Amino acid sequence: MTNGTIAAKIISDAILDRSNDYATFFTPARRQADPFARKFVSVNADVAKHLVKGKLDNTKDDFSELHVNEAVVTRIDGRRTGVFKDANNQIHMVDTTCTHLGCEVAWNDAEQSWDCPCHGSRFSYTGEVIEGPAKRPLKKIDRID
Ligand code: FES
Repeated sequence: MTNGTIAAKIISDAILDRSNDYATFFTPARRQADPFARKFVSVNADVAKHLVKGKLDNTKDDFSELHVNEAVVTRIDGRRTGVFKDANNQIHMVDTTCTHLGCEVAWNDAEQSWDCPCHGSRFSYTGEVIEGPAKRPLKKIDRID
């Protein structure tokens, strides 16, 4: 609505050969991409890349050879699964799909957590939320023996 009013004023001033302070803001020659817009596009392209890459990941490691405090991503019944062996040799398995917007988490060996590359959510090895934006834990997967 506001732009329509300004456009009418700019056009009428152009017809009457008068200057208009707003004309420079709306000229087609102003195309200089806003740095924020470029960053926004770049970040979201990266999120899309991680989202697609995570879904296509074809890791098929055997977790029976996992060491203590080590994790691996594998597929169980076609579902991408994060597998972690704790200090008591207990295996913990989680669905690696982030509960925020569905990207695939990856194991962060230094922090011993499942981290989402898209928006930074972090989950413990049992899938509990350490840090958002995700609010729900990763889905636990029952042990298959
Ligand atoms: S999809 Fe994982 S934090 Fe957004």
